[in-house]
Amino acid sequence: MEVTAIWLLLLLPCSFPNFLISSCMGNQIDYLNRLVASRRSSNPPRPESWAQLDDQGNSHSSPVFVGSQKGLMQADKIDKLPGQPEGVDFDQYAGYVTVDPVADRALFYFFVESPVNSPNKPLVLWLNGGPGCSSLGYGAMQELGPFRVNSDGKTLYRNEYAWNNAGVGFSYSKNSSDYTQVGDKRTAEDSYVFLLNWLERFPQYKTRDLFITGESYAGHYVPQLASYILSRNKNTNQTVVNLKGIAIGNAWIDDNICTKGLFDYLWTHALNSDETNEGVNKYCDFASQDLVTNKAVAKNATDQCDQYQSRALTEMGDIDLYGIYSPLCNSSAIKPGSDGNVLNFDPCSDVHVKSYLNLAKVQAALHAKATKWSACSGVGWTDSPTSTLPEIRDLAKVIRVWIYSGDTDGRVPVTSSRYAIKTLQLPVETAWQPWYSDSEVGGYVVGYKGVVFTTVRGAGHTVPSYQPARALTMIASFLQGKLPPGPPPS
Ligand SMILES: *[C@@H]1O[C@H](CO)[C@@H](O)[C@H](O)[C@H]1NC(C)=O
Ligand SMILES: *[C@@H]1O[C@H](CO)[C@@H](O)[C@H](O)[C@H]1NC(C)=O
Ligand SMILES: *[C@@H]1O[C@H](CO)[C@@H](O)[C@H](O)[C@H]1NC(C)=O
Ligand SMILES: *[C@@H]1O[C@H](CO)[C@@H](O)[C@H](O)[C@H]1NC(C)=O
Repeated sequence: MEVTAIWLLLLLPCSFPNFLISSCMGNQIDYLNRLVASRRSSNPPRPESWAQLDDQGNSHSSPVFVGSQKGLMQADKIDKLPGQPEGVDFDQYAGYVTVDPVADRALFYFFVESPVNSPNKPLVLWLNGGPGCSSLGYGAMQELGPFRVNSDGKTLYRNEYAWNNAGVGFSYSKNSSDYTQVGDKRTAEDSYVFLLNWLERFPQYKTRDLFITGESYAGHYVPQLASYILSRNKNTNQTVVNLKGIAIGNAWIDDNICTKGLFDYLWTHALNSDETNEGVNKYCDFASQDLVTNKAVAKNATDQCDQYQSRALTEMGDIDLYGIYSPLCNSSAIKPGSDGNVLNFDPCSDVHVKSYLNLAKVQAALHAKATKWSACSGVGWTDSPTSTLPEIRDLAKVIRVWIYSGDTDGRVPVTSSRYAIKTLQLPVETAWQPWYSDSEVGGYVVGYKGVVFTTVRGAGHTVPSYQPARALTMIASFLQGKLPPGPPPS
């Protein structure tokens, strides 16, 4: 069986645990340059909405594959994960959902019920970024799932701030693989087929409110999947997916704007020199569609732009760009056995997760095929529009849209999100204000017409792994459809 795995942290190339810190850094810079360069050559801008374009050749009305799911829910139920702590009071499921029986293509999912009152909770789908790294390894095991992995790589500890607690009903994440002919369009189509089949397997959730959430490159998948679902819903005699909203964190939503935001962030956070920043702004024309049209300053502005961008990334030195104030992992200093605590950020958590997910008994407990599991893998991404702002603008008129940002992320920083939202020119309905979590400012929130923007203070790219309590407060507010809480009574 070919297993596609689509939900990975594209924007986390540094997370390969087997890289040394320095080679990881080099890799990251290469990666970023490659991304920027590939945008110029192979991804011409698409002015129309992605969903509209797609619709021209396809009315979205022909039925999609839905296979028999009889008995599969019971078969997917996880008895117990190896090394899980005592007192687990919720049900867990994992398994494969076939999305294309002809190509024999399936998606892997992990699903966790709410411990409390689960029949009345909404359904939440979480998608990590991609392409390249696993949502099981990141989203589920390091961010919002119910467990994290101890430094022995064999046992688990509880994440008290898991998103299936406190107001959140369910979440499941999907694994990803080294599937080579995958792209944004295929991702949305496969995800839709996955959802329809999954709802057949778990029919009690068919009418449940659904929220789709994700981070990083999921700034593409989430709005695209949401648009695709709404388009399909209009014209189907199959299950109508009860989509109510989306939330995207540190989301890559527009190449030009997000790239400009990145370099501005590096300078305003004292990671770059004035000269480098001036060079970037002089030679890189972020307003143009190819990032670097000559600003009549030089015939070779493109080269100069590349050089200044490389310089900007080298100049910041060996830091975790995904959480600029956080320590780096020193994998030779890991002491096995200590019990982890979700409130202590663990820069080596991906090392522990890799050990754990490679235990044969863990793979068996998850109903996964025996495999050498790795967090990331190269994928050939075949289509990727330069912007998902057209989808976001349309979605904001019909469903709840939240854009959140961990404010210590340098990779898809808060500046990128703010610049992107600004282009939508939405009127402010609720003025910028702090919100609170555990009696401290958890971040800031501003309500635009149709879009809520919120920061999570002190959080990096993978928000819940840096600030689990604040992340949970924020997402619970999103699901309840109200702004995050104000100050505690004095
Ligand atoms: C659903 O619609 C398709 C055509 O779009 C048709 O072939 C199929 O028979 C319909 N199914 C039902 C149950 O109406
Ligand atoms: C994740 O995807 C990879 C690649 O297809 C696969 O080999 C692996 O078994 C999956 N992991 C799990 C835990 O299912
Ligand atoms: C072109 O780029 C080179 C370095 O790559 C630089 O030395 C030269 O001054 C640039 N030319 C112009 C006109 O900016
Ligand atoms: C990593 O830890 C080892 C063992 O404690 C130590 O010798 C080494 O200097 C550390 N490396 C860095 C880069 O901190």
